[in-house]
Amino acid sequence: MRILFVTSECYPLVKTGGLADVSAALPPALARAGADVRLLLPGYPAVLKGLSDLAPVGDPIPDLPGMAGAAPRMLLGRMPDGTPAYALDAPALFGRPGNPYMGPDGRDWPDNAQRFAALAWAAAAFTAPAGLDPWWRPDVLHAHDWQAGLVPAYLRLRPDRFGGERRPGTVLTIHNIAYQGQFPPWTMGDIHLPSSAYAIDGVEYYGSVGYLKAGCYYADRLTTVSPTYSQEIQTDEQGAGLEGLLSVRADRLSGILNGVDYGVWDPARDPLLPAPYSAGDMGGKAVCKTALQEAFGLERAAARPLAAVVSRLTWHKGLDLVLEAAGGWVAAGGQLAVLGTGEPWMEQGFRQLAAWHPGSVGVRIGYDEGLSHRLQAGADLLLVPSRSEPCGLTQLYALKYGTLPLVRRTGGLADTVIDATPAAVNDGAATGFSFGAATVREIAFCLRRALALYRRPDRWQVIARHAMTRDFGWEAPAREYLELYRAAQTDAA
Ligand code: ADP
Ligand code: GLC
Repeated sequence: MRILFVTSECYPLVKTGGLADVSAALPPALARAGADVRLLLPGYPAVLKGLSDLAPVGDPIPDLPGMAGAAPRMLLGRMPDGTPAYALDAPALFGRPGNPYMGPDGRDWPDNAQRFAALAWAAAAFTAPAGLDPWWRPDVLHAHDWQAGLVPAYLRLRPDRFGGERRPGTVLTIHNIAYQGQFPPWTMGDIHLPSSAYAIDGVEYYGSVGYLKAGCYYADRLTTVSPTYSQEIQTDEQGAGLEGLLSVRADRLSGILNGVDYGVWDPARDPLLPAPYSAGDMGGKAVCKTALQEAFGLERAAARPLAAVVSRLTWHKGLDLVLEAAGGWVAAGGQLAVLGTGEPWMEQGFRQLAAWHPGSVGVRIGYDEGLSHRLQAGADLLLVPSRSEPCGLTQLYALKYGTLPLVRRTGGLADTVIDATPAAVNDGAATGFSFGAATVREIAFCLRRALALYRRPDRWQVIARHAMTRDFGWEAPAREYLELYRAAQTDAA
């Protein structure tokens, strides 16, 4: 089965969050399971530079939204790991360095509607009767997030251009429903969809054009990245206005938990760490902790519990709770190391916190892949207090690194971390800590529970070792996706 995997970011070429990690790891896992998978990425400078053996395929692509007149080419190359990847070579749309969605001023690019309509149109072009790549025609298009949300709409609404005799199946994966790709109604003039599609039974989303809505409406199959989140997005609180549509389509919606690429995230063979370690030999973890304390200007104290944060600093990640609970944590002897970038008020809050607690709180505002690995390895606890979390990857990395995740019970966090209640500790199931309500009281109480357990190193070690042996590899999810692709093909036929 041939799968075109349409995504707007992919590690290590371009990454703003977990979607990049999924795009890097799931296609090779699908390939190992027998599928013929190719990525389609926007031709950002980092993509054109990072793909090897790039060469044009097929004819120039006509009528690309936002490209008045010019007809860009599709290029085919390889990711560093060998996975075949197409890049849409449209410099007018993607030839901009830095963040893929925002300019240097922190604002969304004003032509995002056209840029990502073009990406979707180019994906659809692979299914045109004449094809795009004469040597390769997908059976299923797997679109990710709002950036690829129009892919299913083009296949369903433009059969004159795409789909041919047998339309390929479409799958849309929602990585985060909070990001909608919402554009003004006049966008309809640019994106080559019939104006009749601007309707509640179509792409209209609360008076605007919704790219994620379009995908949710037209895709044969919908997935999201954890079973709990697939339920949550059918509720008023977490459905972002799509709960009605998703409830109606519940029989087409499934939650498939993300996996971890243990080729990248494994403390036994992670070249970014000062010392390796494993469940069988934890010696290196103490070395990693000392190095981390030094890197963050923290007191070099083996006995002080060190909590870490590696995250986008946004409200939905719940890190304001950490800001508020940090004073109590430090007073009780804890340390905190934070790596993140995001909303200015939150960045400022963490800078201030570090200034108030020298030696106990260290903060690095920025994006640093290497440091994120060293935090995972050197810390005792990883804090993920998200208000909502579709899956979350950092808590899965923490488990592998024997760093106990302390999470709010929501989405994928609820599905992957087993709270160290007395019963779970006794029967050996516990892998971390979790709390319910997004309040300072609850996180503070949870931190106190963690501290109490930290004071019992024998017990802590048992839990950490158990966490390290949990398997969240991509093999099982890849099999689930393959089954889903078959279902999507059947639906489309
Ligand atoms: P989300 O996609 O919502 O940001 P995930 O937990 O799924 O959340 O994925 C976040 C990914 O981004 C992880 O790989 C994490 O290590 C990484 N990450 C987040 N912030 C930073 C940062 N400041 N520096 C380096 N890596 C980061
Ligand atoms: C999104 C979600 C995150 C998820 C990631 C990969 O960015 O916020 O929870 O892990 O996508 O699916």
